[in-house]
Amino acid sequence: MLFLGFFLCVSPIFTRALDNGLALTPPMGWLSWERFTCNIDCDNDPKNCISEQLYMDMADRLVADGYKELGYEYVNIDDCWMERKRDSSNRLVPDHKRFPNGIKALADYVHSKGLKLGIYQDVGTNTCAGYPGSQGFYDIDASTFAEWEIDMLKVDGCYADPKDMDDMYPKYSIAVNKTSRPILFSCEWPLYQQQTGIKPNYKEIAKYCNIWRNDHDIDDSWSNVLDVIDYYAANQDELAAVAGPGHWNDPDMILAGNFGLSYEEAKAQLMLWSIFASPLLMSNDLRNIEKQFSDLLKNKEIIAVNQDPLGKMGKRIKKINNVEIWVRPISPVVGSKYSFAVVAFNRNTLGGPQNVSVQLSSIGLDSASCYIIYDSATPEKKTKLCPKDNIVIKVNPSGATMTIAKLNKNFFFKH
Ligand code: GLA
Repeated sequence: MLFLGFFLCVSPIFTRALDNGLALTPPMGWLSWERFTCNIDCDNDPKNCISEQLYMDMADRLVADGYKELGYEYVNIDDCWMERKRDSSNRLVPDHKRFPNGIKALADYVHSKGLKLGIYQDVGTNTCAGYPGSQGFYDIDASTFAEWEIDMLKVDGCYADPKDMDDMYPKYSIAVNKTSRPILFSCEWPLYQQQTGIKPNYKEIAKYCNIWRNDHDIDDSWSNVLDVIDYYAANQDELAAVAGPGHWNDPDMILAGNFGLSYEEAKAQLMLWSIFASPLLMSNDLRNIEKQFSDLLKNKEIIAVNQDPLGKMGKRIKKINNVEIWVRPISPVVGSKYSFAVVAFNRNTLGGPQNVSVQLSSIGLDSASCYIIYDSATPEKKTKLCPKDNIVIKVNPSGATMTIAKLNKNFFFKH
C-alpha cells in the first residue's frame, strides 16, 4: 500500500499536463462575473453580492428551472470571494462574512444538487480585483481547491508578465493535476499574450488548459459581442485548428437575460457560440429572467450543436448582402461526409427580416445522399434537400437563424 502510494506520487501520469479527461464537450453552466462583478456590499445589496447565498440561489434555479437536465452543470465563483490575506499557513481564506460556512460547505450544497462548483484565481501575485493571487502558492492553492472539492478553476492573468505565462500557466496546471482531483482548468493565457503583442502558442496552451479566453472581457453590449465575433472570424483558421474534445476556445460569458442585448442579439450570440464549439457559461440572474430568454437558453437544438461530440469548430464561409453564413461540421458522419449546422447571421440594422438563398453545395453541403433539414426553432418541420438545391433562410436584423442539415444513413434520395 505504502509502495503504491509512493508510486502514485512520483508517477509521470500525475505530472503530465492536463490528463483530467474533462470537457469532452464544451462546459456549460453559470459564472457570476459579468452580471454580479465584484459586488461585495452584502449589507445594502444582500441578494446580489458575491456570497454563498448567490451561488446557492443559482444552483437552485439551475435544477428547478430545468437548465441542469439540458447540460448546464457548473456554478462558478469569480473574483472577490476571498479575504485580503492568506492565513498563517499561507492558505487562501474565503471572506468570513460573505461565505460564513466556507467553500467546502458550498461545494457540498452544489454537489447535493448534482451540479459542480467552479472557483477563480490568478496566475500572478493578485487577482484583477486585487485579492491574493496564486503566484508562489500554486501547490498550496491546488491542494486547497482539491480539498474543497472544486470542479473547475478559472485562472486569470492580472499582475503577471504575459512573457512569463508560457512558464506560469503550465506550472499551475501541473500543480492542479498533481492533486489527482479532476478539475477543469480554465486559462486566460492567450488573451493577455495577444493583448501585449505576443503570439499565443495554442498547441502548448491546449496541452495545459481545458478552455482558454482568447479575447477581451465581454460586457452587456452588442458592440462588445460584435467585436468578439469579428475576432473569431479574423482568426478562425488558427482557432478552429486547436479546438476539440478536452480543449476549447472561450469567447467569454453568455449574456441572454441581462439588459444590453435584444432577444435577436442574444439569440445570435448563443447560436454563434455554438458554432464556435465554445463554453456556454451564462452570466445572468436566473432568479429574474424573462421567459423568452430562458426558453432560448434551453433550446435543445442549439445546445445539441454546441455539444456535438465531434468537437469541430465552425467557420464563417461567406457573406450575402451583409448576412454572414457560418458553418460547423457535426455528427452524424456518413462515410466521409459530415452533417452541418448553418447559422445565418444578419449584420444589417436597417430594414426588416431578410431572406437569403443559399445553394447547399456552395457552402460545402455536397453529399449525394442529401440532407434532412430543419430550423432550430421548429425542429419538427423537416425537409429533404440535395447539394444543388437552394435553401431560403429568413433572418431578422441583428439576429441569427440556425439551420441543421443532417445526413441519415437510412435516407436515400430518389431522383
Ligand atoms: C478579468 C477577467 C474577467 C473577470 C475579472 C475579475 O478581467 O478577464 O473574466 O474574471 O478579471 O476581476
